[in-house]
Amino acid sequence: MTDAPILTVTNLSVAYEDMRTSHTIIDGVSFTLRKGEILGIVGESGSGKSMTCRALIRLLPSSRLKVTGGSVQLEGGGDVLALTPREMTGVRGRRIGMIFQNPASHLDPVMSIGRQIAESIRHHRGIGRAEAWARMLDILRQVGIPDPESRANAYTHEFSGGMRQRAMIAVALACDPDILIADEPTTALDVTVQAQILRLLQQLRDERGLSIIFITHDLGVVYQLCDTVAVMYAGRVCEYGPKDEVIHRPRHHYTAGLIACQPSSEGGTGPVHTIPGQPPNPADMPAGCRFHPRCEAANALCAKLQPSLDEAEPSHACACHHPVGMRTEAKT
Ligand SMILES: Nc1ncnc2c1ncn2[C@@H]1O[C@H](COP(=O)(O)OP(=O)(O)OP(=O)(O)O)[C@@H](O)[C@H]1O
Ligand code: SF4
Ligand SMILES: [Mg+2]
Repeated sequence: MTDAPILTVTNLSVAYEDMRTSHTIIDGVSFTLRKGEILGIVGESGSGKSMTCRALIRLLPSSRLKVTGGSVQLEGGGDVLALTPREMTGVRGRRIGMIFQNPASHLDPVMSIGRQIAESIRHHRGIGRAEAWARMLDILRQVGIPDPESRANAYTHEFSGGMRQRAMIAVALACDPDILIADEPTTALDVTVQAQILRLLQQLRDERGLSIIFITHDLGVVYQLCDTVAVMYAGRVCEYGPKDEVIHRPRHHYTAGLIACQPSSEGGTGPVHTIPGQPPNPADMPAGCRFHPRCEAANALCAKLQPSLDEAEPSHACACHHPVGMRTEAKT
């Protein structure tokens, strides 16, 4: 990993709007991705992980969702949010590749895997059929699909879950992007195949200097794969920093709760810890810290004032009035 940022996201916000209602879904998300870095985004279902990444490539899942603020600076490419739709098509695929949460719905069932990838390469690169086909075979080989010459002619339904996921990675890498966004790419896979896919991503980072944003529910996967981690709660980043710092010394009470919920690595049989309560509905966000109705350390200040994401230590930021393990009497 180098220090040079390849993507700088500042105060990114997304809102939902229809005739009757409007509310914020993503609220002021900021983070930096460096060259060759693997950044994990974790959080419960509905915390805004997928929406944040879809906003980055301007592919929000409904016309009622709009980016309402912020900037997404791509190294050498300006603010992604200010690009024309035509310029954006060039960025998608060529600079940023994405593996979506549900791969089946993003692979074409009636076109062979090889043709899908080769067409995408031709479209982005403007090269001839034969050259695009050769490049496609090369990519299938890189992502570990055996015997690519014959597998290229297979259709999605003829691939196993793991092979389909590799095919998705191949589609995302077809145009040699600098950044790969992988939205829960291993959730549906068994543990052995999951480990193979994680190794593949690490190898792509090591060999090509690929920068990766990896979305997951699983802190164990973050620990294994990522350099840095952003924890999301109710549309905001509540903690952000180097993996070791965040996982071994969590500052936010939500992060500490998530860590306590992880099954013990020793396979203990004790009671499984859960965070009490439910995440809030975006149409009815609590005032103050959005986590306060579920937080054991909450006090009157937490219910009133939304904490900002401040650096608790250099490069380890946390949005909490009373961070875990810190003396906070003066603030109450
Ligand atoms: N098409 C949509 N229209 C309106 N709201 C949506 C839409 N898709 C998602 N949302 C809302 O946006 C918020 C963030 O959703 P998002 O899909 O980003 O969550 P997530 O963290 O990726 O969750 P999961 O882990 O379940 O994939 C949620 O409150 C969700 O209900
Ligand atoms: S700001 Fe208050 S409610 Fe929110 S996590 Fe910190 S202590 Fe808990
Ligand atoms: Mg999601």
